[in-house]
Amino acid sequence: AIDPNFEENREQVGEEDGVAVWGPVEPPEKQGIRGTHVAVDFDICLADGACLEDCPVDVFEWVDTPGHPESEIKANPTNEDQCIDCMLCVDVCPVDAIDVDPG
Ligand code: SF4
Ligand code: F3S
Repeated sequence: AIDPNFEENREQVGEEDGVAVWGPVEPPEKQGIRGTHVAVDFDICLADGACLEDCPVDVFEWVDTPGHPESEIKANPTNEDQCIDCMLCVDVCPVDAIDVDPG
């Protein structure tokens, strides 16, 4: 499962599509955690798609991660600023790849 304390345990190494990237990032195997308020561990996501289908405000968009061992697309929390903290995505992800911090 995603580390809920990733902000303390990881370093932000950049930003892509307006979304924070938390390392380590070593493509293609290591893609890091993406997002802050809504965070997706790209190394755990296996492209189930439930988060995209169920989020009421369309926070997530597919991005390509060619060569990643779990899946070659990932759910990027591109619109995390729209999140209404309903926690649906956290509940439906089968591999606990998502952390939402209502703080
Ligand atoms: Fe979407 Fe709800 Fe998840 Fe926020 S908590 S990203 S609104 S499904
Ligand atoms: Fe990935 Fe979980 Fe969404 S596997 S596509 S973060 S439901």
